[in-house]
Amino acid sequence: MPGLGLRNDVYRRPLSTALERLGVGPGWCCADIGAGGGDVSVALAEVVGPAGRVYAVDINPELRDAVAQAAAEAGGAQVVAITMAAEDLLLPEPVDLAFCRFLLMHVVDPLAVLRRMASVTATGGWVLAQEPVTSAGRVGGQALSMPGARHPDIGALLPGLVAKAGLELVDAWAEAPAGAGPGPVADYLEDLTGVSPGLDPVVLPPLVTVMARKPAAG
Ligand SMILES: C[S@@+](CC[C@H](N)C(=O)[O-])C[C@H]1O[C@@H](n2cnc3c(N)ncnc32)[C@H](O)[C@@H]1O
Repeated sequence: MPGLGLRNDVYRRPLSTALERLGVGPGWCCADIGAGGGDVSVALAEVVGPAGRVYAVDINPELRDAVAQAAAEAGGAQVVAITMAAEDLLLPEPVDLAFCRFLLMHVVDPLAVLRRMASVTATGGWVLAQEPVTSAGRVGGQALSMPGARHPDIGALLPGLVAKAGLELVDAWAEAPAGAGPGPVADYLEDLTGVSPGLDPVVLPPLVTVMARKPAAG
């Protein structure tokens, strides 16, 4: 798995675009599912401020320390780290935003996880997912693959899945970092694949973002 710092460098823009479009702001209560080392959780905490809260949920218990450290380094961010499978997701309170990035591509049943994310979201609140279309990435014109992921192209199905999860699709789009030669895009790809792209042009897997609202029941 690539270093979270590297992933944040190259995929920062899709994250910022999504949070700005949604209008996440002070006081929001958010959940970052499959939070990893907590970099996105901390980014969310910085936006929601001291009056807000972020639940950083991951199945891997070893990541709790990394989340705590990232939150501490960010200076008093309201981040609560929870070890839990997304399939069993339960939170102490309904959230305004349930978020995931690069998670659904790894789980057995992405629709079941989206339904759990919807279930912890307050009525009128938001589910935001950012997942890749790996095979749409290119190195030197050749398609990328990720044999270790269960659903490497789940991004292509995401807009349809949110409707099946009982959510109202409000917006969806795709963004892909690209470059050629030395820089964060080449570093990220080398970290991911173990092979440097050299001077070959690289288009990293586009991230499909879906912004979906939880409708009132009935
Ligand atoms: C590729 S990392 C993404 C981390 C972070 N979301 C990001 O974008 O930087 C995937 C994370 O999902 C977690 N994960 C995988 N399966 C999970 C599951 N079923 N429930 C909760 N977390 C899971 C992994 O432990 C890992 O931290």
